[in-house]
Amino acid sequence: MTPKHFLSTQDWSVEELQSLLDHARSLRDVPHQPLLQGRTIALVFFNPSLRTRASFEIGAFQMGAHAVVLEPGKGAWEMAFGEGEVMDGAAEEHAKEAARVLSRYCDLIAVRRFPLFQDWSIDRQDIVLNAFARHATVPVINMETILHPCQELAHVMALQDQLGSLKKKKYVLTWTYHPRPLNTAVANSAMLIATRFGMDVTLLCPNEQYVLDERYMSDAANNAADSGGSLNITHDIEEAYADADAVYAKSWGSLAYYGHWDDERPMREANRYFIVDEEKMSMTNNAVFSHCLPARRNVKATDAVMDSPRSLIIEEAENRLHVQKALMAALVPSPIEAALV
Ligand code: CP
Repeated sequence: MTPKHFLSTQDWSVEELQSLLDHARSLRDVPHQPLLQGRTIALVFFNPSLRTRASFEIGAFQMGAHAVVLEPGKGAWEMAFGEGEVMDGAAEEHAKEAARVLSRYCDLIAVRRFPLFQDWSIDRQDIVLNAFARHATVPVINMETILHPCQELAHVMALQDQLGSLKKKKYVLTWTYHPRPLNTAVANSAMLIATRFGMDVTLLCPNEQYVLDERYMSDAANNAADSGGSLNITHDIEEAYADADAVYAKSWGSLAYYGHWDDERPMREANRYFIVDEEKMSMTNNAVFSHCLPARRNVKATDAVMDSPRSLIIEEAENRLHVQKALMAALVPSPIEAALV
């Protein structure tokens, strides 16, 4: 039987997601609960992390589980993923074996693998995560590939704590400048989760070339239709910020220039003024501000915005711990539940 994975929040019902959020709040109140006593978790990091690694490791510890961190290419074998691949390059190991072997040792596997930023038609297939999900016989969690569903849960928890019901609240996802083209994962995820919870979502970006992948735009539009929310794209800063209840900042590379980043750079440089500052925030309905972190201060958002009482950046980061504990507990039955099966 295929285990239940957490690859995208789109695969989980809103009720299931809300149940995770509710459980996360109870784990915030009582952090040490032996829900995963004696369990083992593999955290496979192909890319760096501060929050994700710390919150998963500490979360596992607080529930009585042990987490092992593996970094392929750096202490663990470099890995191949393609079906039928002739492995005559640097990779010594295929995900087919890695996923099955880890499944024999562990109760859960979590994977972080960013895109390679050369060809979006390849990166959008999420080959690494899907290989683990296909071959593992235990649940797989997406710790950020081309989506960042754990961040979505932490974000919604912070928004609900501040705004209550999110239905019909105006939510602005704003593109911001960054000196490098970044992953679209958090932006894709923000669109999906905000529309899922019935928010009136505005995507603010400099021009059409920064609109996100059609798959996620389409999913977000469908989510909005189902939830009673809405989805609007604008390139007009004043229109976007007007009366907003929540502003979420993120930078990402233009899919139109994917792999041709030198050509994108002048356009990106010309839009540094998308920075979230006090002047823009003053147009809102006293909006809360957040960012997934890490964030470059005074590039993506000013110190005044990041340090303002309406900034949720630290709460959202803290919530990663609580929501991931709820998620791990939901995916891995407790020793008592397992004994009853
Ligand atoms: N937001 C987030 O995933 O942070 P890290 O990259 O530090 O894990």
